[in-house]
Amino acid sequence: MTEPNQVPATATNIARAAQILGDGGLVAFPTETVYGLGAHALNAVACRKIFAAKERPAWDPLIVHVTGVEMARSLSRDLPAQFLELARRFWPGPLTLVVKKSPVVPPEVTAGRDTVALRQPRHPVAAALLAAAQLPIAAPSANKFGRPSPTYADHVQADLGSAVDLILDGGSTDIGVESTILDLTQVPPVILRPGGVPREQLGNAAIASPVADEHVIAPGMTLKHYAPRARVELFETEIALRERARQLPQAGILLPQPETLYAQLREFDTHGVPVILALLPPPTGLGLAVRDRLTRAAATGTLPPP
Ligand code: TXA
Ligand code: MG
Repeated sequence: MTEPNQVPATATNIARAAQILGDGGLVAFPTETVYGLGAHALNAVACRKIFAAKERPAWDPLIVHVTGVEMARSLSRDLPAQFLELARRFWPGPLTLVVKKSPVVPPEVTAGRDTVALRQPRHPVAAALLAAAQLPIAAPSANKFGRPSPTYADHVQADLGSAVDLILDGGSTDIGVESTILDLTQVPPVILRPGGVPREQLGNAAIASPVADEHVIAPGMTLKHYAPRARVELFETEIALRERARQLPQAGILLPQPETLYAQLREFDTHGVPVILALLPPPTGLGLAVRDRLTRAAATGTLPPP
């Protein structure tokens, strides 16, 4: 049964969602990567509700969704030349750019940092919501902290339920893994999280990636980012995975595609699968992001907050 706070993403409901955001409420909406849990980014009280609903630690800053370069300018300062080049090439799209923040951005959003993460999403519902609200929308992924990111409205409902004022249901998201985060405050820029824009496409804009160096990561990308109930074993080849599966007939087998990765992990959790045997894709294209998320799911420890 669909809950009353979950509605199809029609023009009328998008207008209602924009109103709720303006009034300081929480709205979940689809982006091309995963569903986001949005609040008015300049309203500190509203942004605190995001942390409460997600049970997200206060040290983990939020991504701010913008209508475009002009709104991005109003939230930042000292933008490097690369910012405009990258925004022109990849916005709207799954690229988040970390830049110096303007004083208008509340510390709740940036977890007290001097920088802010900005992205213009290209999903038609996210774009329509931003256009209707004419506000910057702070939105992390709309999952409970430690759960896989939501790629369906039902995932948001399962994790957050009535803590969200309105969930705009726009069907499944198309990319399925989160945006690439590029830190432009470092010279040269650093990829803090591999994601929807493959590293190959960024070319010279980026030199380092968290997969090569686990210490260069976004603050929220703790080593054990998503914690499945199952133990996760990783394999570089399908032959090795199939051999292990013969020893462990009760294991769940994961041959991941980016679009279905998080939904499959949720399925395994729902069915109480004790062990997940996962095939690592090659570290190219979206495969890099999938490897990164699986490596974190398989990690046994946690990194302390930075
Ligand atoms: O695709 C996405 O990026 C989705 C959709 C909803 O836009 N959002 C998303 O948000 O994945 P979240 O909160 O789950 O992940 C945001 C990451 C966190 O790891 C956070 O630490 C990092 O972005 N981040 C946010 N602000 C930052 C900043 N100022 N400097 C460095 N990292 C930052
Ligand atoms: Mg997240």
